[in-house]
Amino acid sequence: MNTTPTITNKDNTNSALISPPISSSKTAINPANNSLINPPIKLGIMASGSGSNFEVIAREIHQRKLNAQIQVLIYNKPQAKVKDRAKNWNIPAILLNHKEYQDREKFDAKIVEILKQNQVELVVMAGWMRIVTPVLINAFPNKIINIHPSLLPSFKGNKAVENALEAGVKITGCTVHLVVPEVDSGEILIQAAVPILPNDNLETLHARIQVQEHKILPEAIVLAAKLDRK
Ligand code: GRF
Repeated sequence: MNTTPTITNKDNTNSALISPPISSSKTAINPANNSLINPPIKLGIMASGSGSNFEVIAREIHQRKLNAQIQVLIYNKPQAKVKDRAKNWNIPAILLNHKEYQDREKFDAKIVEILKQNQVELVVMAGWMRIVTPVLINAFPNKIINIHPSLLPSFKGNKAVENALEAGVKITGCTVHLVVPEVDSGEILIQAAVPILPNDNLETLHARIQVQEHKILPEAIVLAAKLDRK
């Protein structure tokens, strides 16, 4: 097996080091009748904001690059742009406003209820800006992944991009990891490194990190599903 990280260098501004190497084929198609060989992974996506990662997953599924199906989107902010993206893709979107729940556990119990109702197999936290509790984590053991905009274990928390800039590191990136009760701490599935350029600010750096997020999150879904099916 080739374990050497791959340099993806399709364009100069977004070159990055991704490890483990990106697989060449995420979807196995039966050439005889053009059908998918394996059943699609049933995803539940949790998001709080713009949803560019949600968009990439939906698009890759549509393009048959990713053998999955989004059963449901759960979002927690009424104005989150991700809800409009779900509507455009005709994907059911459910608003669960955390402010309407007594505590994190009750909120997570409702999330579990909806995910189970929708037969979700793998949960993707794609910009979910809430701390989750064992109520959710134990309902989907090793089946929840999160994308984080730093090279974990550096810069945990919700100011990862800002903190990397402030620290003066020259390379940061993004990580997809399994979700465990400690925030941003579960087993790492895939990472991409992003250089910090001399004139970077929060927006420019985050934008370049997101380019890499959009590459590694679909890959991580495949990796997580394989873990799951062992
Ligand atoms: C991403 O940068 C992700 O790493 C972080 O939240 C952001 C979500 O972006 N957890 P989007 O809503 O998918 O565009």
